[in-house]
Amino acid sequence: MLLQKHSEYQQISKGATLFIGSSIETLDEISKTKIELLSNILTKQDDEFIVLDPLTAIYLTPKKGDSNRINEKLRIAGDKFHDLCTKTKLSQCQIIAKGLNSEEAVATIEGFILGDYQFNRHFSNENKKPQVDSVIIVNDQITSNQLDELAIICDAVKFAKDMINEPASHLSSVQMGERITEYATGAGIKVEVMNKRKIEALKMGGLLGVNQGSEEPPVFICMDYKPRNAINDSPIVFVGKGVVFDTGGLNLKTGNFMENMKLDMGGAAAVAGAIVAIAKLKLPVHVMAFIPSTDNRPGKNALAPGDVITISDGTTVEVLNTDAEGRLILADALVWAKQYKPRLVINIATLTGSAARAIGSHGIVGMQQHAAEEIKELQECGEKVHERIVEFPFWEEYDDQIKGDIADLKNLGGPEAGAITAGKFLAWFTDYPFIHLDIAGPAFTEKKDSYRGKGATGICVRLLTEYVRKIALL
Ligand code: BES
Ligand code: ZN
Ligand code: ZN
Repeated sequence: MLLQKHSEYQQISKGATLFIGSSIETLDEISKTKIELLSNILTKQDDEFIVLDPLTAIYLTPKKGDSNRINEKLRIAGDKFHDLCTKTKLSQCQIIAKGLNSEEAVATIEGFILGDYQFNRHFSNENKKPQVDSVIIVNDQITSNQLDELAIICDAVKFAKDMINEPASHLSSVQMGERITEYATGAGIKVEVMNKRKIEALKMGGLLGVNQGSEEPPVFICMDYKPRNAINDSPIVFVGKGVVFDTGGLNLKTGNFMENMKLDMGGAAAVAGAIVAIAKLKLPVHVMAFIPSTDNRPGKNALAPGDVITISDGTTVEVLNTDAEGRLILADALVWAKQYKPRLVINIATLTGSAARAIGSHGIVGMQQHAAEEIKELQECGEKVHERIVEFPFWEEYDDQIKGDIADLKNLGGPEAGAITAGKFLAWFTDYPFIHLDIAGPAFTEKKDSYRGKGATGICVRLLTEYVRKIALL
């Protein structure tokens, strides 16, 4: 989508216009007759989105609330306006937002661009959902640099959503490696996709174990963005769960629990999208991303409940439930990260139904070890981009629940606090400041959720990018 910035309102011939202001009186481009008409239909003049006619809408900004809340309302308004534009099949649109500061203007277009996302690649032409070609913003605070940065970030979200929405029939682990390599090309990131032979040589028994039931080989993807002007000596590392499809393995998922399990590489998509956005923004921070990837299937060699496997650091694990596979492949990735002596590792995974049940889809379940300050900063970024994190306890009392009977660990906690015991399992393999984000709730939506859309949300791309931006400023 083409983004343009104008300083003055112009009549456009083939498009819709959204006027944004704090009250109708401030919208001086709207005719007096329309204002009179409006005063009759307005109810509260606060956070109100009014469709005047198929070509005109008005959004009156909230009178109260902090800047994070207002920005989120503006994203939602941007998406509503996008809906109007596509309803009337208009390909060019204009947002008049003279009174907004630059952050508010950015938020509005962000909602508009993200709302434009469609996963169209498997439709035959006539069924493709409409999209908008170009949008003009009339605001003199926003800079073209801000628009360029926004375009980079929204493109990374689109990349992540495309990969998550892609069914396993079209996205094997090897194909994910190829797609990521292609997307990172030219951004200044070193990408290595390690194949099964290399994974075997590294004795990554978690990744190989989960892969045993599969017809397709696993991959382990390493990404390294190390700009010459990096402000950090030790890297920030992202780890993302890359299960391209989770059937549960021999502990086969039943009912409709398997339906959306192509989403199970949502963590991988988020970390890959974010590191590319960070590199394209040329942020002066050394960042790495590691993605263990396989599908989880009940093939003839599949792990059986009770089997014991050995993670690459020598830890033995009793696999009591083959559907708790994410932690097994992530264990190898977290061990791999140790050699880089990271200043912080952020693990992102659609790890447990327990996290989704605890807080639903409105936020991310987070936990940390030796990273109390870092998670607070990450939470602030979460509020800013509206990808909010709630920190769960990580008390040592939970540790006992993952001790194995015949091996060091078991991959199953007790009946309670499943998101936390899964996090505890991961933390076993770390010796650095560690944050784990469980995105099982917000990664995928069943019905359209404003600018997040329907299906993959691409959550954590904007969060991680914002966090590294923040570090770059410190
Ligand atoms: N991929 C699932 C978690 C999941 C559930 C993600 C719902 C998104 C939506 C994970 O591999 C899984 O199956 N976890 C089990 C763990 C259990 C067997 C300990 C779960 O949460 O039920
Ligand atoms: Zn599973
Ligand atoms: Zn899974």
